[in-house]
Amino acid sequence: MSATFTITINGIQETVQGVPPTTTLLEFLRSSGWVGTKEGCAEGDCGACTVAVVGEGTDGKAHYTAVNSCLVPVAALADRQVITVEGVTRDAKALHPVQEAMVQTGGSQCGYCTPGFIMSLFAAYYDGKADDHAVEGNLCRCTGYLPIRKAAASLGAPKASDPFVAALQTAQETAPADSYYEYAGNRFHHPLTLSEVFGLLEAHPQARLIAGGTDLGVEINKFHRAFPVLVSLERLQELKSFEDTPEYLEVGAGVTLSHLMARAHGIFPAFDEMLYWFAARQIRNRATLGGNLANASPIGDLPPVLMSLGADLKLASQTGERWVSVSDFFTGYRQTLLQPGEVIASIRIPKTLPEGASRRLSQSYKVGKRGTDDISIVAATFTIDLDAQERVVQARLAYGGVAATPVRALEVEAWLIGRPWTLHTAQEAARALRQTFRPLSDVRGTADYRLALTGNLFEKFFVEFSPQVISQEVNA
Ligand SMILES: Cc1cc2nc3c(=O)[nH]c(=O)nc-3n(C[C@H](O)[C@H](O)[C@H](O)COP(=O)(O)OP(=O)(O)OC[C@H]3O[C@@H](n4cnc5c(N)ncnc54)[C@H](O)[C@@H]3O)c2cc1C
Ligand code: FES
Ligand code: FES
Repeated sequence: MSATFTITINGIQETVQGVPPTTTLLEFLRSSGWVGTKEGCAEGDCGACTVAVVGEGTDGKAHYTAVNSCLVPVAALADRQVITVEGVTRDAKALHPVQEAMVQTGGSQCGYCTPGFIMSLFAAYYDGKADDHAVEGNLCRCTGYLPIRKAAASLGAPKASDPFVAALQTAQETAPADSYYEYAGNRFHHPLTLSEVFGLLEAHPQARLIAGGTDLGVEINKFHRAFPVLVSLERLQELKSFEDTPEYLEVGAGVTLSHLMARAHGIFPAFDEMLYWFAARQIRNRATLGGNLANASPIGDLPPVLMSLGADLKLASQTGERWVSVSDFFTGYRQTLLQPGEVIASIRIPKTLPEGASRRLSQSYKVGKRGTDDISIVAATFTIDLDAQERVVQARLAYGGVAATPVRALEVEAWLIGRPWTLHTAQEAARALRQTFRPLSDVRGTADYRLALTGNLFEKFFVEFSPQVISQEVNA
């Protein structure tokens, strides 16, 4: 048992003890005197709490990664290095280039959001990605975004003499250790292998897995759920695999969405599109594919993509492995085929077309109240495989936000098989889609609006992929 662990904040090693394992990094920072980091929403939406964590990039080198400190349990970052707004200048007389840029453009007024913007831009600056997307997870209520965007756009590349560049080059992540932290009977485990995870799940049937914690963090902060035993999947190399073959892409369930965006870009355009609109960079830096599936939200954005692309999941447990189709995985509201003791190990997406098909049309759509960092009202992915005569060989139309689970329109899919890919077919299918589901009304959208979207998005898909078909039919 360990009643303490260490975490390095702005170069200073801090000992963590006497706090529950679910204490967030933000709570720990502020109670330790690092009060520059602010709390706005405590649910990942405003970015005021953004800090940079040193972590491994897809190139295997150390990078600064922006994360929402309000969602990460501090125990998840045992032995890691964190930079907060107090630490961005090592010389108290000079501002950091990101701070200087914000001053020059007038990017701050009341200043409450500013530490979060500084840290998002700080992480992006050292990655050469200080564009609008760097701050898509940060809200400002008084300055207006133009000066902040100008500050981001004015940033050049860091100088070779920049101490943070040098710090990254020498950053030695401590070799991840198998450890656990305990306080008042509550534990946070950091296993290194799946077999250790299985042992922990057997020994503690009430244990909850935690990957990036972007869903669990909200449960902790907003629903005050107690998790007496948390088993982290973060240090499991077995869940970080990435296998790209001519037949399929297989991705470990613990790969973060940011890494997935970088590594899988260009393989499945429908996947790229949905990842682009998924949350914001701070969330994608922590969130995993496995977490999005296991969370089983009816408005999760990636299940429709994976269902439409015909993906399978590898579920692993003490007794072995089994494969299930993502289309069969969701069995009811927030229920899945996962059995006690089972973990999602990987996700395999086939690349090959079905027999008789000569080309594929596939795209994702997300409708929310704002562009980024928003929950879907309806999300959809359509994949249509056509033969050489432009007849439908296979159709997979998958939706989120229209039922208790992510769902496919199986009857419309079957109706489409063998039909010519024409405007008439698309309009008939859209009409049927608008009668297929029984969605609920909620604060985000009415049932009627959602139903209209199910068909309208399919028509949009047709128009996007087949503009020449439309002009031929209209002129005929
Ligand atoms: C501000 C904000 C914006 C968001 N935006 C979006 C969005 O645009 N679209 C969207 O779909 N979601 C969104 N989410 C939800 C969340 O980010 C995703 O569901 C994310 O993929 C969860 O992954 P995680 O690794 O953080 O999961 P965690 O929070 O660690 O875990 C979620 C659940 O999955 C279980 N779990 C995790 N990994 C595994 C595994 N390998 N095997 C079995 N069980 C596992 C955990 O026990 C837990 O029950 C958002 C969340 C926030 C806070
Ligand atoms: S406090 Fe709003 S994102 Fe963390
Ligand atoms: S400067 Fe006031 S909220 Fe951004």
